[in-house]
Amino acid sequence: MKYEYKISGVLRKRKLNKYVYEIYVKWAEKPPVGTFFMVWLPGFEAIPLSVADWDKGALKFLVQIRGQTTKALYSAEKVGLMGPLGREAPRPSSKPTLIAGGIGVAPLLYMRREWGGKLIYGARNSEMLIPLDELGGEVIVATEDGSKGIKGTVIDAFKENLAKSDIYSCGPLPMMRALGEMARSMGLRGYGSTEVPVKCGMGICGACAIAGRLLCKEPWIPLHLF
Ligand SMILES: Cc1cc2nc3c(=O)[nH]c(=O)nc-3n(C[C@H](O)[C@H](O)[C@H](O)COP(=O)(O)OP(=O)(O)OC[C@H]3O[C@@H](n4cnc5c(N)ncnc54)[C@H](O)[C@@H]3O)c2cc1C
Ligand code: FES
Repeated sequence: MKYEYKISGVLRKRKLNKYVYEIYVKWAEKPPVGTFFMVWLPGFEAIPLSVADWDKGALKFLVQIRGQTTKALYSAEKVGLMGPLGREAPRPSSKPTLIAGGIGVAPLLYMRREWGGKLIYGARNSEMLIPLDELGGEVIVATEDGSKGIKGTVIDAFKENLAKSDIYSCGPLPMMRALGEMARSMGLRGYGSTEVPVKCGMGICGACAIAGRLLCKEPWIPLHLF
């Protein structure tokens, strides 16, 4: 992989709720599971986005609108893509348990398509969930206000559905710290990823350092290190 941007056309996009949309861009080669791209729009900063799916030359990102770039990206016709960055997530020994907090669901959807497994998916409220009928397979949902599924955090939902399988989880840092604590005390096996500032994306600047690793080089960190 060369660290350079390639211009790629946007194929289609669709709003999934008030905050989240999906966008498909052209990308010929299948990216490894668990990797991400730096996505650049002229006039904006490049931002990291996880591979949410890839099929027949179409790469999917799931984007939560936050600031300028995530807002503007919805109207883009072309984007600059650098990637796939990071490296393939270590493979599970059997069907994994995937634990997603909010937009952390994005990389887990691609893992699920490739590896299968049960998805435990939590958000603040039902308005922030992406359409559940499109997720397929076994999904356990939690919302903090109880507007859908189990009332509580995704960690509460996981505690009610403990499994021996390998765990892959992505969400905000406090959620990952809570899972890290569970991993240490209960001997859970698995990997997690979270949002950190990614600047260079190539292991040079150190901005993405977490748990003694550089997340841009190693996006999936053993859970017990969080
Ligand atoms: C490896 C990686 C993969 C990611 N994958 C996805 C994905 O698949 N889909 C998705 O929607 N988002 C993903 N993100 C987060 C995404 O990169 C940010 O939401 C985006 O950079 C925000 O850009 P913006 O210009 O719209 O907002 P900005 O204007 O940059 O920020 C808006 C607000 O959000 C805060 N903010 C921005 N980025 C972060 C951050 N990383 N952590 C905490 N607060 C932040 C800012 O402080 C500001 O208050 C990922 C992040 C990382 C590190
Ligand atoms: S973003 Fe620069 S080292 Fe990871």
